[in-house]
Amino acid sequence: MAHDATHPKAFHHPHEGCGLPERDRVLMSFDDFCFAYEERPTLRHVSLDVYAGDSVVLMGDNGSGKSTLLKAMSGLVFAQRGSYRFDGEEVSEASMRDASFAKRLHQRVGFIFQDSDAQLFCASVEDEIAFGPRQMGLGEEEVRRRVDDVCRMIGIDELRGRAPWALSGGEKKKVAIGCILSMNPDVYCFDEPLNGLDARTRAWLLGFLHQLKDAGKTLVIATHDQSLADEVADYFVYMGDFHEYGDRPHVHINQ
Ligand SMILES: Nc1ncnc2c1ncn2[C@@H]1O[C@H](COP(=O)(O)OP(=O)(O)OP(=O)(O)O)[C@@H](O)[C@H]1O
Ligand SMILES: [Mg+2]
Repeated sequence: MAHDATHPKAFHHPHEGCGLPERDRVLMSFDDFCFAYEERPTLRHVSLDVYAGDSVVLMGDNGSGKSTLLKAMSGLVFAQRGSYRFDGEEVSEASMRDASFAKRLHQRVGFIFQDSDAQLFCASVEDEIAFGPRQMGLGEEEVRRRVDDVCRMIGIDELRGRAPWALSGGEKKKVAIGCILSMNPDVYCFDEPLNGLDARTRAWLLGFLHQLKDAGKTLVIATHDQSLADEVADYFVYMGDFHEYGDRPHVHINQ
């Protein structure tokens, strides 16, 4: 693997020399990306290319920066040094001040939070799922069609009129996924998606991830769950240098 940890600008291309099919388009490109919460460096000189259609599993210790990297991909935190480009366009504090640019990024990169409560705020499940499409400026008829499709696809028709805050954890997770699905993004960022799910919901979610993959969507999944990782990863991105699984393509960043 072409990776020189001493050189912060060494790009990580898991497609090169790792037996993965060559893909033609880099969708998310981090170049020497640095970010600190207050004074504490959290993402250090991250250089990483994710190609359209990749299924990437992010692994690393607690506090190693996985969730922060997903936030950066979704335009929720920004480079303090270096850069992040989405589909060729720089995502920065300045570019995100342009409301139409920010809206487009949020539509194209969906982020399913680890804690569904942080994502759900509407009075009903229907409104919640309609929120993104309405923000996109779609007409009410199209919004209704998307809500119907999504509720059917993820099997939450019976929850449509319920208040999101009064749902169970697994039901909330499905609704949170529905909120992103209704915007039909190119990229799905999942933060610990299986946490707290029962065996049936877990099986459903694994099937759903495969459907997204088959549809050519780009998946970035932060997880500590090795069986989920083995199930969906084209390759692993490890935050830091420790890992014990060597049988798939992998790169190390944030060392
Ligand atoms: N909002 C915040 N304000 C200040 N520090 C933060 C904030 N969010 C995260 N951090 C810190 O940044 C570091 C990286 O956190 P992050 O949540 O990205 O890690 P993680 O790899 O997702 O961990 P985990 O496996 O526990 O989910 C941690 O040291 C954490 O304490
Ligand atoms: Mg996390």
